[in-house]
Amino acid sequence: MHLTTTVEPLEDLRADVLLVTLFQGETELKGRLSWLDRILGGQIGKLLTSGEVRGQYKEFAMLHVTGIGAQRVLLIGLGKREDLTLDRIRSVVAIAARNSRRIKAKSLAVDSFTSYDLSPAESARAIVEGVVLGLYKFTKYMGAKTAEKYKGTVEELIIADSDEENLPELKKGFLEGSILSANTNLVRDLVNEPASVMTPAEFASVAEKSVSSTGIKVRIMDEKEIQKEGMEAFWAVARASDIPPRLVELSYEGNPGGKWVGLVGKGITFDSGGYNIKPGESMFRMHCDMGGAGAVFGAIKSAAELKLPINCVAVMPMAENMISGHAYKPGDIVGSLEGKTIEILNTDAEGRLLLADALTYTKRKNVDYMVDIATLTGACVIALGHHVSGVMGNSPELIEKLSQAGERTSEKLWELPLYSEYAMQIKSDVADIENSGGRPAGTITAAMFLKEFVGDTKWAHIDIAGTSTIDSSIHLYVRHPYVPKEGATAVGVRLLYQFLKDLSEQGF
Ligand code: BES
Ligand code: MN
Ligand code: ZN
Repeated sequence: MHLTTTVEPLEDLRADVLLVTLFQGETELKGRLSWLDRILGGQIGKLLTSGEVRGQYKEFAMLHVTGIGAQRVLLIGLGKREDLTLDRIRSVVAIAARNSRRIKAKSLAVDSFTSYDLSPAESARAIVEGVVLGLYKFTKYMGAKTAEKYKGTVEELIIADSDEENLPELKKGFLEGSILSANTNLVRDLVNEPASVMTPAEFASVAEKSVSSTGIKVRIMDEKEIQKEGMEAFWAVARASDIPPRLVELSYEGNPGGKWVGLVGKGITFDSGGYNIKPGESMFRMHCDMGGAGAVFGAIKSAAELKLPINCVAVMPMAENMISGHAYKPGDIVGSLEGKTIEILNTDAEGRLLLADALTYTKRKNVDYMVDIATLTGACVIALGHHVSGVMGNSPELIEKLSQAGERTSEKLWELPLYSEYAMQIKSDVADIENSGGRPAGTITAAMFLKEFVGDTKWAHIDIAGTSTIDSSIHLYVRHPYVPKEGATAVGVRLLYQFLKDLSEQGF
């Protein structure tokens, strides 16, 4: 997508579609908008005073116009002025982008939003995120005719501002938004890929290739190395499948001599449940059980491409959870890299087993903060639904930083408590710990299990089981027009990137 930044008045912008946003309850047009309207013979003003257009959030109307540089004016409501957020900007711009694509418009012009107290870089980033994320569709396996609907996309974005001095920052925000949303869409593609295509080895190879020019160092461990390393819990899950596991490690050193962040992402490329097999309905979409791995991959890649002054290592244990004569079974007692023995109560609680070993592996690198992210428990979907991910951990300061990044990116987090009482549920008679605490507080007991493997490293765990994929029935789409209706959302990419960026700005 080509970008032009300019200080021209709105009426001079040459574009197929000019986006004009309106606040609810404000019928009098001000500033640049009032000039535009005067040239349009008061067309917009009439719509407002007649009450036909009220500026309600997401309400829109497309006008064909003459006498100005643009072919059409697309009016979209932002809702009440005091409710304006970056999220609303991303959302209305996504609506504008999709409507532009529908009518095969190639160029879209947008006023920068900097007049509303938003920094130019933030505004431009939100605008680009709206366009690029909003136009995403997983089209790889569609026939040419169906895919056609999603092509012919907006090729030129024009961001206008009234102040020449804002232009360099607008360009910076554009760059950040472009990289971040391209990586988000890349991760959506990887997570949406069927399990037979996106195997652990394929994920490893895509990850390696796609960071080759970023300065990120790559280590890929195969099934032999995983066993040799002593990752017994990881191997217990992985060994049933004919498709071998991989451990993918990416490290980015953007601040030599500084502190390190460790990111760990669950990478189950298919979760059948194992011998505790999932019923058919629950197995649907279990090829997306690698959204955590996708999130940490997208975040570290973005951090490196945007050259954040931060050090980060991302560890992704990748495996299938399958059934075969080699499979682990309920009642098995398996070891772990850390040394603890684990009684297997349920082979469907597999994610925590690979995470346990990956957390031990990452902790041993002496990271200062460690964050894992995983599609870990169905219980989290019941507790928090599809709009908010769960966060738990042993460091209030780390959880606070993650929550702030969540607010900024609208990938919201809500903390659940890790009271020591919950540990009772995963106490074993025969081993150090059990891998399932049963149904009550399933999200918390899963985190309590992970806590056994982090020692005193400052650690937080994010459960994205409810937010990582979408069914059209969920209607998340209605709230976030830049999130697809169906399939992978790549939640966590923007959140973890923002977390890394905030840390780098706080002199971490
Ligand atoms: N991958 C699932 C969790 C999941 C459920 C993700 C729904 C996305 C949507 C995980 O491996 C799992 O099966 N968890 C079990 C744990 C239980 C056996 C303790 C669950 O939540 O039922
Ligand atoms: Mn499972
Ligand atoms: Zn799983």
